Amino acid sequence: MSQRKRIGILTSGGDCPGLNAVIRGAVKAGTQLGYDMVGFLKGYEGLVDPVSYLPLNTKNTSGILTQGGTILGSTNKGRFVAVAGVHERVELDPELLASVRVTCEQLNIDGLVCVGGDGSLAIAQQFHEYGIPVVGVPKTIDNDLSSTAFTFGFDSAVACATDALDRLHTTAASHQRVMVLEVMGRHAGWIALYSGLAGGGDVILLPEINWTFENVCHKILERDQEGKHFTLIVVAEGAQLPDGAFVGEQRDAVKQQMKLGGVGTVVAREIEQRLHREVRCVVLGHLQRGGNPTSFDRALATQFGVHAVRLVHEQRFGEMVCYWPPKVDSVPIAEAVNKLSTVDPNWSAVQAARALGISFGDCSSSKSPFALRINTEAMKPSTAETKAVALTQLASTASKSLAPVIEAIASLAQ
Ligand code: F6P
Repeated sequence: MSQRKRIGILTSGGDCPGLNAVIRGAVKAGTQLGYDMVGFLKGYEGLVDPVSYLPLNTKNTSGILTQGGTILGSTNKGRFVAVAGVHERVELDPELLASVRVTCEQLNIDGLVCVGGDGSLAIAQQFHEYGIPVVGVPKTIDNDLSSTAFTFGFDSAVACATDALDRLHTTAASHQRVMVLEVMGRHAGWIALYSGLAGGGDVILLPEINWTFENVCHKILERDQEGKHFTLIVVAEGAQLPDGAFVGEQRDAVKQQMKLGGVGTVVAREIEQRLHREVRCVVLGHLQRGGNPTSFDRALATQFGVHAVRLVHEQRFGEMVCYWPPKVDSVPIAEAVNKLSTVDPNWSAVQAARALGISFGDCSSSKSPFALRINTEAMKPSTAETKAVALTQLASTASKSLAPVIEAIASLAQ
């Protein structure tokens, strides 16, 4: 075994586009700094009996920048579990930690780059506390890790969902159908919000905003009255039903996270019953995790890989790479794994969506000056005219600074 400096890298948890770009970036940067690089296989499992790894170099990582998945393999199951439910810490078995330390010592690992989401980085944090030299790289299509504005993989998932909406748009319009698209994201609505905005969704149902079927149906009818006889509904898999229930499967082990999925079908069936309209549901599922990364994710993941190596080189263990545009930086892993990053209902993207007339199924005008409560009875003669009247009324009750903005929109609506 060579005594050269050595960096290990592993990819853990659900895969996502951009993992290979991180590996390639780290290998290129590490090699330039004089490190030998090794990749552990199947996530953290490769660190312990049977220890399995692959020497990595610029040759065997050449051409992987554009490839989805991970050449190292990954798993979100196995012996390493550091979180139960959403955020309850589970202590790793001390014997497992000791084995990891032995592996790192035997292979002369100067630093271990752990690429993963919330659960995987919680494992890295316990390694750090145990004295194993680790740094983290935030990965997940869900974009739900705090301490970074974006994780790589998110943009690719949004691109996939947007493409699905573009396709659903034409067929929905042709058949005058209501189409429901269920997207991933666990308990965060980032994918639904961004794809809904980018793909022209009419209704977006998020875990962060309570909604009702009445309001969703109201939006569909409102569009009908505007002569738009189709509606695109984007629903996040983690959006709770109006009674507060999640849709999915409870996994066997008591403390394991629920496997979310199926809310789209429930939404579709309920609308069908209420409106006697044809409603179809598409569950996008793992298509969002597969395929090539977008150029944004390639660029971000590459920077993350390079920065992770820099953290090891500077012995800044226990830190996680993060991205606060335009800067790639780092924060303690402990900060990132403490809470989920979810969509703030008052955030500008939500407000922008409301200003466009996108419904979040809450029909609340309290949070945004642009959210209208439209009276369908009053709308019959002329939708545009009535909207303008409603806006003018709203302007009369709005604050001084907002009134001119609402008046301007009212004049556009006429
Ligand atoms: O965290 C990424 C993610 O794709 C979630 O959006 C989704 O709920 C979950 O993983 C699916 O996990 P699995 O691959 O185990 O079905």
